Amino acid sequence: MKEFDSKELAKYNGENGSPAYIAHKGKVYDVTGSKLWAAGTHMRRHRAGTNLTTDIQAAPHGPEILERYSQVGTLKEETAETAVALPKILAILLESNPFFRRHPHPMTVHFPIVFMLSTPFFNVLYLITGIKSFELTALHCLAGGILFTLVAMSTGVLTWWYNYLGKMLRPVAVKIPLTIVMLITGIVAFVWRINDPGVLDPLQGTGIVYLLLILSLAPLTAVIGWYGASMTFPIEKQ
Ligand code: HEM
Ligand code: HEM
Repeated sequence: MKEFDSKELAKYNGENGSPAYIAHKGKVYDVTGSKLWAAGTHMRRHRAGTNLTTDIQAAPHGPEILERYSQVGTLKEETAETAVALPKILAILLESNPFFRRHPHPMTVHFPIVFMLSTPFFNVLYLITGIKSFELTALHCLAGGILFTLVAMSTGVLTWWYNYLGKMLRPVAVKIPLTIVMLITGIVAFVWRINDPGVLDPLQGTGIVYLLLILSLAPLTAVIGWYGASMTFPIEKQ
């Protein structure tokens, strides 16, 4: 029976008429005949030509479904190049709680997104209405935004390290510097506002610079989130 390594397996991705092979626990199956793997894609998410041992744990069916298709080979043990060597304690944690493999980043990103978008929102509301408590709410949101950006950065680096082998993919190359810019912008604006509570009153001179800093948080958040989602939900090419 043929032995595949991950590079060889990747050729059987079901695209452009090539066969669709998938690997599970060291066995390689040929699912070319399945309508549910047409063009090498299953449920708009899983790709043929890859090792899906971990992914099937999140499926509504068990691995016994693979027995519908014949085994065409075996997959070589992963080498250091295709899998990161995790510290033992982390490896045990991920083994017993697969939840920690993919979920921490998507779970924690909602917090910086909502706080970093609320900051410009409440400041603009203050400028429109003149109600001072909106401006204070914006300051509190900014504090939350800074704190949770740090949390999202930690989970982001972690998921990038063990799910993407720390490879410098384009979305990550955009996300990391923009996240640092967002964090610094947030901290500068926060310190500024603490030292000058009336920075927006009246809105002129340096107050406009402060407002621009605050407004820039919205596009920064959107771009960082967009590039992240482009990894979890890639846009399909027709
Ligand atoms: C979110 C993840 C997944 C969802 C929602 C999903 C859903 C489904 C559904 C609804 C079916 C049809 C069940 C049936 O015919 O009884 C199916 C079949 C199948 N799935 Fe999945 N699946 C997922 C992940 C996976 C993964 C990761 C693998 C591979 C390791 C896989 C391999 C298969 C195979 C081989 C079939 C049989 C196809 C056929 O009979 O032609 N699935 N899946
Ligand atoms: C050093 C910083 C960061 C790194 C290295 C990073 C890395 C990543 C990676 C690798 C993914 C794909 C996750 C997966 O496939 O499971 C992702 C997704 C994502 N990231 Fe980040 N990220 C960082 C910071 C942030 C921040 C600060 C935000 C929010 C403002 C954010 C928002 C998102 C979103 C919305 C997703 C998509 C989640 C989903 O689809 O459920 N990321 N990020």
